[in-house]
Amino acid sequence: MQVKDKVVIVTGGSNGIGAAMCRRFAQAGARTVVVADIDVQGARTLAAEINGRAVRCDVAKEEDVIQLIRQTEAACGPIDLYCSNAGIILQGLIEVPNADWQRIWEINVMSHVYSARALLPGMLERGSGGFVITASAAGLLNQIDSTSYSATKHAAVGLAENLAINYGDRGIQVSVICPMAVRSLMTRKGGGIAALDGILEAEQVADDLIAALNEGRFMVLPHPQVKGYLEHKATDYERWIRGMQRLRARHLPSL
Ligand SMILES: NC(=O)c1ccc[n+]([C@@H]2O[C@H](COP(=O)([O-])OP(=O)(O)OC[C@H]3O[C@@H](n4cnc5c(N)ncnc54)[C@H](O)[C@@H]3O)[C@@H](O)[C@H]2O)c1
Repeated sequence: MQVKDKVVIVTGGSNGIGAAMCRRFAQAGARTVVVADIDVQGARTLAAEINGRAVRCDVAKEEDVIQLIRQTEAACGPIDLYCSNAGIILQGLIEVPNADWQRIWEINVMSHVYSARALLPGMLERGSGGFVITASAAGLLNQIDSTSYSATKHAAVGLAENLAINYGDRGIQVSVICPMAVRSLMTRKGGGIAALDGILEAEQVADDLIAALNEGRFMVLPHPQVKGYLEHKATDYERWIRGMQRLRARHLPSL
């Protein structure tokens, strides 16, 4: 899929990876870029910069996601590409309270369900469309210091795989982005253990996504070493768990 002349929505578009995507899509000649975010002021500022549209949307609320999609269709026509990018991280292991588990589940997983459900019938009817989920390397490997982030990002990867299997041969381009640490608000305190392999700029992630869309590729790995780590995991799961335990003992002894 080429982004030129397309109608594109990016959730979590006001900051970090989403903002870099919005700028790159605008540079690549998208017809309309919709910056959708709960941070509406940030969305307005970026939309003014790239001549796009700003929409306030809390992706944890299905009615907000449906309204974002229907409003955009009414104003701009069918949505060609939807990047379900908004996400949060919560520090902590299993002790994190249920209300917080519910919140991260809704933002990191259900938001993708809400948007795919609202978009896919139209895309399938037209025989074309793109649906991108920003998951994380934590969804393929793990995030030692956040149980809820690890679980929800694994769910997001599984969801993206299932969409690609079911719709990828019916004109829908499904891609999933799985970076390690990227410079953004989320990593403003340094990125922690995810940053052991260095912090990438968000623009790199956006460039890698555009390349993957052009090639019709599912998996976007801005940190190429993630492929090797995943191969180690698949080859010997027991050894991989022991290696991760050593990493925890060395870098997060207080956990
Ligand atoms: N930064 C990293 O190291 C990293 C690594 C891998 C994956 N990711 C993923 O990338 C995505 C983008 O994160 P980022 O690093 O750019 O973080 P960020 O905090 O800089 O940006 C996230 C954006 O999402 C918005 N947002 C949060 N909750 C929302 C909600 N309920 N509804 C609508 N918008 C909401 C925020 O206002 C913000 O603009 C997330 O899904 C994150 O999990 C980030």
